[in-house]
Amino acid sequence: MGEAPKSHLLDLLFLFLCFLCFLCSDGVAGQTPVFACDVASNPSLGSYGFCNTSYGTEQRVADLVKRLTLQEKVGFLVNKATAVSRLGIPSYEWWSEALHGVSYVGPGTHFSTLVPGATSFPQVILTAASFNTTLFEAIGKVVSTEARAMHNVGLAGLTYWSPNVNIFRDPRWGRGQETPGEDPLLASKYATGYVRGLQEADEPEKLKVAACCKHYTAYDVDNWKGIERYTFNAVVSKQDLDDTFQPPFKSCVIDGNVASVMCSYNQVNGVPTCADPDLLSGTIRGDWKLNGYIVSDCDSVNELYNRQHYTKTPEDAAAISILAGLDLNCGSFLRDHTLAAVQGGKLTEKDVEKAITNNFAVLMRLGFFDGDPRNLPYGGLGPKDVCTPANQELAREAARQGIVLLKNDNGCLPLVSSRIKSLAVIGPNANVTFTMIGNYEGTPCKYTTPLQGLAANVKTVYAAGCANVGCTGNSLQLDSAKAAAAAADFTVLVVGADQSIERESFDRVSLLLPGQQTSLITEVAKVAKGPVILVIMSGGPFDISFAKTNGNISSILWVGYPGEAGGAAIADVIFGYYNPSGRLPVTWYPQSFADSVPMTDMRMRSDPSTGYPGRTYRFYTGDTVYEFGDGLSYTDYTHHLVKAPQLVSIPLVEGHSCDSRQCKSVDLAGTGCNDLGFDVHLRVRNSGNRAGSHTVFLFSTPPAVHGAPRKHLVGFEKVFLGPKAVGQVVFKVDVCKDLSMVDELGNRKLALGSHVLHVGSLKHSLSLKV
Ligand SMILES: *[C@@H]1O[C@H](CO)[C@@H](O)[C@H](O)[C@H]1NC(C)=O
Ligand SMILES: *[C@@H]1O[C@H](CO)[C@@H](O)[C@H](O)[C@H]1NC(C)=O
Ligand SMILES: *[C@@H]1O[C@H](CO)[C@@H](O)[C@H](O)[C@H]1NC(C)=O
Ligand SMILES: *[C@@H]1O[C@H](CO)[C@@H](O)[C@H](O)[C@H]1NC(C)=O
Repeated sequence: MGEAPKSHLLDLLFLFLCFLCFLCSDGVAGQTPVFACDVASNPSLGSYGFCNTSYGTEQRVADLVKRLTLQEKVGFLVNKATAVSRLGIPSYEWWSEALHGVSYVGPGTHFSTLVPGATSFPQVILTAASFNTTLFEAIGKVVSTEARAMHNVGLAGLTYWSPNVNIFRDPRWGRGQETPGEDPLLASKYATGYVRGLQEADEPEKLKVAACCKHYTAYDVDNWKGIERYTFNAVVSKQDLDDTFQPPFKSCVIDGNVASVMCSYNQVNGVPTCADPDLLSGTIRGDWKLNGYIVSDCDSVNELYNRQHYTKTPEDAAAISILAGLDLNCGSFLRDHTLAAVQGGKLTEKDVEKAITNNFAVLMRLGFFDGDPRNLPYGGLGPKDVCTPANQELAREAARQGIVLLKNDNGCLPLVSSRIKSLAVIGPNANVTFTMIGNYEGTPCKYTTPLQGLAANVKTVYAAGCANVGCTGNSLQLDSAKAAAAAADFTVLVVGADQSIERESFDRVSLLLPGQQTSLITEVAKVAKGPVILVIMSGGPFDISFAKTNGNISSILWVGYPGEAGGAAIADVIFGYYNPSGRLPVTWYPQSFADSVPMTDMRMRSDPSTGYPGRTYRFYTGDTVYEFGDGLSYTDYTHHLVKAPQLVSIPLVEGHSCDSRQCKSVDLAGTGCNDLGFDVHLRVRNSGNRAGSHTVFLFSTPPAVHGAPRKHLVGFEKVFLGPKAVGQVVFKVDVCKDLSMVDELGNRKLALGSHVLHVGSLKHSLSLKV
């Protein structure tokens, strides 16, 4: 999402109008919800088939569509949908956001004295680091409950354009913070879990709220060295598209049953995604069978016409998008140009009807046409259900589960509070509030800053060290920082980034800590009396090699943007009330990566002939600062393989041309490997004296054919183990799905030969034969 670039004059006018609107509007304060078919106050509406709940969704939608004029129909193609008062339909605002809590980004949702804030969970990248699918869904449930509660008092919509499931392909991406990281499996599980949590209602076809997986597809350049998402053409191979960029969307639609997908601003191989019939009608609606609507980014259709000059006329732009499968336009472009497009014969009224039918069906499933929501399921929810102690506790728990311990020399952590007389708390992020909630935020219930969280346990001395994370030379306040560290038993440095460093429409060019942060850390660590704990608060990764190797820095934690309760969660980990269990959801590259690899190069696979190192743990061949999946605990875990097959025979369909001695791989279409699977049984032991949760990763390294990944995640499972406890983990491996790969042409293949399964340092070779 983002503002479409207009002229500055228009921007100013728009702001001015918003301001006027703000001054005069009292609707924002909230009280009564927006809904259609208010039969109770207007009994004549009851005779309309679309208001009659004894009919099925399809029938009701058809009834509604046939009552509308063409002009009215066009009004339902945009986020601010038309009101049709003669039919008892108020204007509906489609655009609300709930990335990690109900958000005020998007005009559909507001906070007021009635509901001053909502639970603000950690930014998604940290939640993803928990590798806990139960948690993903639990957060979604709380967010949808709070959203419904706010809807009932007229403060929030029913359609949320969250989550962002783009693959975090490049560490510089300003929006990487919003995503579940670089791995397709993790992103798929996150998408499925969070969407289920948001959407799942008591009845199967109904929706609690409607989620939206965005931004489809191959989108992760916002603005890098002046190259902007609005005009960027992502050149993507079929192979990379199918095995990296598409999987989260596919899972979101097929497993998560999401009600919407949003197409992005960028082009993929020369075609704007929102005007690509193969990507929209072909893949999302055809292959994946989306039950819902496809919406543009805000306003992709305008961009493809005005900035990409993809069509000659605005009517052509409207027509090709709708014909490609777009149902709803965030923006006003389709409202302004679709009528003329129909009149000009570029598309038919039927095409418009098809789009709005998809939109209405989602509103139907949400109960929007069932009368007052306060008399419907969820009708009892209200302000009392927002920011409940349980919801806020889940925000704290989510942050605890995500925080990653990267270094812990001599078991420096956890600190024992009773043995500490003074703790120095230093750094530009040491006492921040707003920074902790990242972007696509809402007003939180309350904040606990890192300083507040730590100070609740021990006596603290605070020094900012720098005025802000930019940490320019002038803003460096070394003396007070050094004095604090020199006098304290322990020092906690909280540094990193905020939205001034990485945000929407702003990618980084460097992976180093901003400004003088490195000097601040090094100088403080030199004079500190006691051990130094470095806390990195950021969405994207940093090259902190200097701290990794600096013996004066005992411990390093990455805490993402930890949400409203972030400071409490950081303290929980530092003082050992929670045993850290988070794992990095992205590779931490050295600065040399940013110096040598253009962000715009979409290739996932390395190219030894040019020195291109590839991207993400699956393909990257260079040095790392930290790896995907890294993360320590206060205890140790060991893995023991109980059972896994050594040989799997793939049945071939009759007449298959592949002779077992010649083929390096077989096409899935030619095998009978459907339903072919096996279990990997593991015993996991907590060998320490402290309870903890542990994520078991099952990776596979396939034979090196077809540009296969170095390794890829086949499954992960998080288990809780008491001191010295032993647990069982069973991975169900589906040979077709989990061990196959996509070849250069985008065909699914099963490589024959030795697949090496790894769990921690454990390796097991599995041979696939025909
Ligand atoms: C709704 O439809 C049912 C089934 O056709 C019909 O019996 C009922 O009278 C309708 N309700 C109203 C209010 O018209
Ligand atoms: C820390 O931040 C809180 C919340 O903004 C503020 O009330 C408090 O005064 C700050 N503490 C210090 C020592 O600056
Ligand atoms: C660590 O601290 C000592 C003094 O306590 C200093 O001499 C040394 O240079 C420091 N090491 C680094 C890498 O900064
Ligand atoms: C996963 O998250 C849920 C919800 O917070 C929690 O109850 C559970 O203990 C977590 N699982 C592990 C293994 O930590």
